[in-house]
Amino acid sequence: MSYILLTGGAGYIGSHTALELLNAGFKVLSFDNFSNSSDAALKRVEQLSGEPVVSIKGDIRDEAALRQLFSDYNISAVVHFAGLKAVGESTQIPLHYYDNNVAGTVTLCRIMRESGVKKLVFSSSATVYGDAKQVPIPETSPRSATNPYGQSKLMIEHILEDLVQAEPDWGITLLRYFNPVGAHDSGRIGEDPNGIPNNLMPFISQVAVGKREKLSVFGADYPTHDGTGVRDYIHVVDLARGHVKALQYLQQHNGIEAINLGTGTGYSVLDMVNAFSRVNNIAVPYQIAPRRPGDIATCYAEPGKAEKLLGWQAEKTLDDMVRDSWRWQSANPNGYKS
Ligand code: NAD
Ligand code: WQD
Repeated sequence: MSYILLTGGAGYIGSHTALELLNAGFKVLSFDNFSNSSDAALKRVEQLSGEPVVSIKGDIRDEAALRQLFSDYNISAVVHFAGLKAVGESTQIPLHYYDNNVAGTVTLCRIMRESGVKKLVFSSSATVYGDAKQVPIPETSPRSATNPYGQSKLMIEHILEDLVQAEPDWGITLLRYFNPVGAHDSGRIGEDPNGIPNNLMPFISQVAVGKREKLSVFGADYPTHDGTGVRDYIHVVDLARGHVKALQYLQQHNGIEAINLGTGTGYSVLDMVNAFSRVNNIAVPYQIAPRRPGDIATCYAEPGKAEKLLGWQAEKTLDDMVRDSWRWQSANPNGYKS
């Protein structure tokens, strides 16, 4: 039987997807340089599933290593998570982001073509919608980028569209994730950010566990129901299952489709803080702080295309998201080093 190759398979979304793929009967091969992860996540995926994960350390920009990988293993499709994802950092070291994300993807596609593997699921992002004029956001919404990270995702989308235009026997799905949060309900795998978290949910969890004093709520003067920013938070296990569905879809279809993975519901920063406190019965001290540059007021998905094409919709609730985030954080206060 052939393998599904996960680039960046040891990361937050990759490890949860590895587990869902194993549970669905797929064989999983991860290729990760561990720049933002560790092999420990995949060891835990093996324990949870009772199935092996082949984990190879390597960089997607390393053409020779990729060529070796595709010659050593029978690979039927690729889920491409590998990439750098910190918006602020991308404005400091843009060349590194373009090299890692864009050049890395071009190298990966070149070796895939050379090896005759033409099924690809790509981790795109709602960031490609920029500051959308209208919510919920459909896949047809105009695209734009305001920082090098977002620009790298947009460039990759264009590159993959051009590739399919030139070579219609490729099957590519651009999955545009909204805001992934939560963790597997075992509490054994979850998000393990380096240093100070950029994203809301890991920050809330680290305040709750006592690693940080209080949350800064970036702006309370947005035109939203309570003045704080509204986002479409999606449970990472729902998101992971979307990848299983996308791979099953690609078994039957060529061409390229962009598909939102979101719930279609927006929650504010204070909705998240309040849900976390209520469900987990723990205080989350916060202060109102100035807006974070580059942030938008409101962003949530029109999720109907995923249901129509993939037969997928998010099933987990806000309470599941905050409960599972806390279960992971409280059981692993120092992430995989715990
Ligand atoms: P993550 O950092 O946990 O996972 C990415 C993985 O890729 C890491 O394990 C890292 O070590 C690996 N990696 C990075 N560069 C590599 C390279 N050159 N070669 C090999 N491996 C490399 O991030 P995540 O949250 O799991 O995100 C996965 C993908 O989803 C990324 O492409 C990200 O841009 C995208 N995405 C994430 C979010 C989010 O909020 N988490 C939202 C939208 C899109
Ligand atoms: C959510 C809300 C903040 C931290 C980013 C990327 C996006 C995608 C997901 C990859 C906003 C507020 C946050 C804090 C706060 N990643 N907030 N205090 O900005 O929607 O999206 O991650 O593709 O591309 O831009 O997510 O979790 O950073 O913020 O008040 O300490 O929480 O202002 O309203 P964002 P986030």
